[in-house]
Amino acid sequence: MLSTNQDAYFMPFTANRQFRKTPRMLVGADGMYYTDDAGNQVLDGCAGLWCVNAGHRPRRVVEALHKVVDTVDFVPNFQIGYPLAFEAASRVAALAPGDLNHVFFCNSGSEAGDTALKIALAYHRLRGEGSRTRLIGRERSYHGVGFGGMSVGGIGSNRKIYGPLLPGVDHLPHTHDLSRNAFSRGQPEFGAEYADALERIVALHDPSTIAAVIVEPMSGSTGVLVPPVGYLQRLREICTKYGILLIFDEVITGFGRLGGSCFAAESLGVIPDIITCAKGLTNGTVPMGAAILRDHVFEAFMQGPENGIDIPHGYTYSGHPLAVAACLATLDTYREENLFERAAEIAPYFEEAVHSLNGLPHVVDIRNIGLVAGVELEPRAVAPGTRAYDVFHRAFHEGLLLRYTGDIIALSPPLIITKSQIDETFEKLGKLIREVA
Ligand SMILES: Cc1ncc(COP(=O)(O)O)c(C=O)c1O
Repeated sequence: MLSTNQDAYFMPFTANRQFRKTPRMLVGADGMYYTDDAGNQVLDGCAGLWCVNAGHRPRRVVEALHKVVDTVDFVPNFQIGYPLAFEAASRVAALAPGDLNHVFFCNSGSEAGDTALKIALAYHRLRGEGSRTRLIGRERSYHGVGFGGMSVGGIGSNRKIYGPLLPGVDHLPHTHDLSRNAFSRGQPEFGAEYADALERIVALHDPSTIAAVIVEPMSGSTGVLVPPVGYLQRLREICTKYGILLIFDEVITGFGRLGGSCFAAESLGVIPDIITCAKGLTNGTVPMGAAILRDHVFEAFMQGPENGIDIPHGYTYSGHPLAVAACLATLDTYREENLFERAAEIAPYFEEAVHSLNGLPHVVDIRNIGLVAGVELEPRAVAPGTRAYDVFHRAFHEGLLLRYTGDIIALSPPLIITKSQIDETFEKLGKLIREVA
């Protein structure tokens, strides 16, 4: 039940007044299920908010959190060390491909994005290329809500009420191409050439002004936009050619979401200069984010006097003991339960199940990769966005948690999902799509 002062909580990314009339409340969680405030089980079709990759309340994580609060509450990480933060950093680095060997901790995906963008600017400046100040994002990308992330982000409705944001930012076109790629499975065939827009941006602004390009290897929040075959490779080539840092925002794709490897960089075979991550880093239990840097990026910060602060950046809660404990126990859980491999094994079953919705009323596209899928519905002529909302809202009350953005329904279940839970998900979703006019 909502408390009497219903206006006290200004809910994030929520239609607050609509919510108060028709609330959806969750009060418990275990494994693949939430419990709502009426005691009903709700199957988690989107890992909370793309973060609970190991399922809810894994035993190791719960125990680690109980243990740490009985031992230490807070350690400052500025000029003082918490030993387990070093261990967590080395464990995260070991999961990243190539020479992505250095980890800067923060508390969210937004902070990880802003951290990476600041590191890119400082990297060039420290190497004597201070004219490289432009940041390039992409349409339909989401990099959180800090001023940096918003500025490179490509969601008009998120940006428009905040004024001009950062100067010197440009955007690549998005890669969503329904005319050529509808109902694709895995990486769509067409669209590598969308990366060539970077050549045009470089020609327009001159490479000497461009610091970094940031993209989600797979855009999650704007409706599961899977990169076309060859697209990320081409972006990598162009960035390398012009000395531009490539940042992959793996806040959603990190920690096994695409199956097989920890990061999309490895699954998709393209190594960026910086990876940002959060969410699955602690299985969503404690806020934590990270920027993972390649050797050459890190080394640029290690050239000043040894007693000088290497980077004037950090958060009071960087390397917080609670987050570190959650991170270590989460990584143990992923490894001991082979969850990245499990995601790859069950992904073909998930793919068949989601594509079984092809042909249902209003379904204009279905796309998937690993354990992520997007089901795009035709918008109602007079009220775009309402059809997917209706499916999402009814699904909740029928025991299935989904995400929606515009008229796209997104699914990204915990990597522990079973075949029968996949069947349950798509039977419910199919029924609702048929019922919602
Ligand atoms: C790709 C991506 N980057 C950044 C963020 C922001 O993360 P946070 O909400 O933890 O700040 C998100 C959140 O969904 C995301 O999907």
